[in-house]
Amino acid sequence: MYVCSCFGVTEQQVKKHAEDGACTPRQIASACKAGTDCGSCVRRIQAILGRAACPRRELADQGKPVLTDLADAA
Ligand code: FES
Repeated sequence: MYVCSCFGVTEQQVKKHAEDGACTPRQIASACKAGTDCGSCVRRIQAILGRAACPRRELADQGKPVLTDLADAA
């Protein structure tokens, strides 16, 4: 099922990015553009991130770089 119809991003893809370390909708956007057009999917992305176990969330909560190239976007 599509989460972001503007960019054809599926729930599976968002979960995959979350597993790879994206913990915020902004990091998901950096990874696959989801949420950067009409923005109507951002809440759905937030919901998915809220449910998904984010392995690096602790690091992010401590303010440490999670994805080096995305650290500035956080
Ligand atoms: S549905 Fe994701 S930006 Fe429009």
